[in-house]
Order: sequence, then structure tokens, then C-alpha cells
Amino acid sequence: MTKFLTIQEAMAKGKGSVSVRGWVYRERGSAKVKFVVLRDGTDILQCVIKPDVVGADAFEIADKLQVEASIELHGTIKKDERAPTGFELQVEKFAVIGPSDKFPITKDQSPEFLLDKRHLALRSRKLQAVLKVKAKVMQAWREFYDKQGFLEYTPPIFQPSQCEGGSTLFEVKYYKTKTYLTQSWQLYGEAGTFSYEKLYCLSPCFRAETSKTSRHLSEFWMAEMEQAWLELPGMLDSIEGVLKHMVKRVLEDCQDALQVLGRDVKKIEPSLKKPFVRMKYKDCLKLLEKDGITVKWGKDLRTVEEDKIMEHFDVPVIVTHYPKEAMAFYKPPIEEGGKEVCLCVDVLAPEGYGEIVGGSQRSLDIERMTKELKAMGEDPKAYDWYFDLRRYGSVPHSGYGLGVERVVAWLCGLENIKDAIPFPRTMLRWTP
Ligand code: 4AD
Ligand code: MG
Repeated sequence: MTKFLTIQEAMAKGKGSVSVRGWVYRERGSAKVKFVVLRDGTDILQCVIKPDVVGADAFEIADKLQVEASIELHGTIKKDERAPTGFELQVEKFAVIGPSDKFPITKDQSPEFLLDKRHLALRSRKLQAVLKVKAKVMQAWREFYDKQGFLEYTPPIFQPSQCEGGSTLFEVKYYKTKTYLTQSWQLYGEAGTFSYEKLYCLSPCFRAETSKTSRHLSEFWMAEMEQAWLELPGMLDSIEGVLKHMVKRVLEDCQDALQVLGRDVKKIEPSLKKPFVRMKYKDCLKLLEKDGITVKWGKDLRTVEEDKIMEHFDVPVIVTHYPKEAMAFYKPPIEEGGKEVCLCVDVLAPEGYGEIVGGSQRSLDIERMTKELKAMGEDPKAYDWYFDLRRYGSVPHSGYGLGVERVVAWLCGLENIKDAIPFPRTMLRWTP
């Protein structure tokens, strides 16, 4: 049986006889020679087919090859500076495995058309590169926390109540009643923490976001961790640690993908080399004030304000101590300068990629949480199981969630978060 090499392996071999297979990425030719750029999961390779080598009949077949036909090729590989990836295959034999009709995706098509044809657009080098970076980001997350003895945890996706506000819940028909798709594993992560202490999960999350921005998806992946005995300062170190580890791994292992994406790695490197910036909400207000932007104390920072702050920095900024009135019910308040602020954190990415992490120490105050849930129009009874966690051997604990696609959009330098997920779901898009 023929042993096929990936294009990457064939180029590493660099000379001699090889068999490769994949899809026609580009084709051009004349009566005397056909150039096929072959694409596989690893790279692209220029292949040259000549009638005097393969025979007239085979050449006729080669001549009719269309973009995205799948083929197997056998021949001699050698260095060639003029070829797109520096190597060329002189084809001796080839076979068409799956012919292709005229591929609908050509140059200069609208983003909407490309989203309609997403199942085919996934074959683009750009999306292929993004998928590689995304896999690396998730792998780096697991690696970082596995090494510290964390356990991967599988949260429920159907959840009976909100965690991040009722307005973005997706309601699901559930037998004869209704339930919701998860917005975050957090409340369930907290329950597990009193068993194993150190947990993480990588899970899809769902939010009925009505904002049509380049940063919001209705279905996205969140990497979350929850840890017993952990307080805010320790968690900030954990967040900085894992983000640096992700950047390191992507820079080490995804150079090819970053190059395909045309990403200027100099813009990411500071996040590996320099400490992140840490500041409180009140310092953000002061910084914004200097830029001529006044935010009334108590208001959450909006995208425009986050972007303005980030104009000053080339590394992520870890913002803590937001005002209680703008924060979720589970974020514990403390008093600072006569005001209630929370032991919570948001991390803002450089270059205007927005909030990539949100988390907090967890409130242990049943009475206060009950009051806030009621004020939001929630029935505190639905959270009684969650309050049980405080009734039976409660301990301080903290956790956070990292938006995987937001981190990928940042590291890849994407214009829109939709390209950080194979099949984006937004308010206006849920097919194919
Ligand atoms: O800040 P969020 O809402 O925090 C939580 O859900 C916490 N319960 C997490 C926790 O403490 N375990 O969401 C966390 C992160 C955000 O910082 C953002 O990066 C991402 O999830 N995110 C989204 N990403 C894409 N599309 C959306 N609609 C997103 N909403 C949140
Ligand atoms: Mg948030």
C-alpha cells in the first residue's frame, strides 16, 4: 500500500520520491505543463504535471482539474525557490479521487456569501490557520491547569436559571416544561469545587446577545476555572499565568499559521515578555478623565471606554474592584473609600480586542445574594441549591471564564470574532 506523507513531511524530506494527497488549491496551465498547488491539512505544495512524463491521456485529465478536486500524486520533490512554499513536486503519476464542480468560492466575495458557504470556506488557508491557533489555545489551557493538578469537569448545558442576567438566556422546550442553555458553568463549577477543590472546563456557552458587534457570538466557548481557598490576588496570578502560557505556545507552535494570517507577532510578544498591567476600576476612570472621557462612578465600562484605556497599553490590562451596582449577584462587595466595590476582575486585551476574561471571588452571603436576586426579578428559591453550598462547609473560593474566541481573535489579529469559530451563530446567522 502506498505510504502517503503530509505536505509538511514531504517538504521536511526535501528530495526524492514521495506520495502526497489533498485538494487542488490553485491550478493553471498550458498545453505543455500544468501547475497544481496542492493543499492538505498541513501546508501547500506546488506540483508540476507534464504530458511527456504522465502521458497524453493523463495530462488531459490533469488539464481539466478544477479547484478543490481531491487527488493523490506521486513524484519527485525538490527545492525550488520560485514555488510558493519553496518546494516543487515533479509529478510522475496521479489519480483523481473526487472531482470537483466549479467551486463557488472565488476571490472578492462578500462576507455574507462566504458565511452562506461556510462549509466550503472552512477550507481556506485563513480559516485553517485560525483553527490551528484555536486548538493550540485550548490545549495550552488544559496543559497549564493539568500541570497544577486541576480536574477537567463536565458541567450541565441545560440549566434552570440564569447566571449572567436573564435578558440573554436562550429558552429551550424541555419535555413538558422549559429550561435554558448555559450562559456559564460557574454555579455548577462552584458545587464541584467543594468536592475536588480545583476544576476547569471548556464548554460551549449561549447568550441571546442582541448587540451585533464584532465581539459577540450567540454560541461561544468558554474556558472556566474554579478553585477552593483561592482569593482574588491568587486568581489574578492564575489568569496572567495561563494567558502568558497560551501566548507562548501559540508563538512557539503556530508560527506558520500566524504567517498565513499575516499577523505581526511583534504586537503579541510584549504579552509574553512583560508583566500585565493591573489597575482598579477607579484608576480606569482617572485615566479616561485624562483623555477627556467622563464615566459616572457606578457605570460599567463600555466598549468605547475599554478601547480608549487600551490605547495606552500593549499588554492585557487586569481591571479589578468594579462598583457593586454594576456587578452580578455572586460577586462579593467590600467597602473602599466609602463605596461598595467587588472582588472581581475583567481582563482587557490589547489592540481593541475587548474583554477576554471575567471572574470574581464568590459571595458567601446568602442574605445579600437573595436581596439582589429579588431586585433582578429572580425567584431566590431557584438558587436554594446554590445557597446550600454556603450552608455546608463553605470556604472562600474564586473562578473566572475566558472567552476562547475572543482570545483567538486577538492572537490571530482577526477583524471579526465570527472567524474564530467554524460555524458562527449570531442574532442574524444560525445556518449552515
Ligand atoms: O464576563 P462573563 O459574562 O463571565 C461569566 O460568565 C462568569 N460566570 C465566568 C466565571 O466566573 N466562571 O463571560 C466570561 C468571558 C468574557 O470575558 C468574554 O471573553 C466571553 O466570556 N464572552 C463572550 N465571548 C463571545 N461572545 C459572547 N457573547 C460572550 N459573552 C462573554
Ligand atoms: Mg464580563
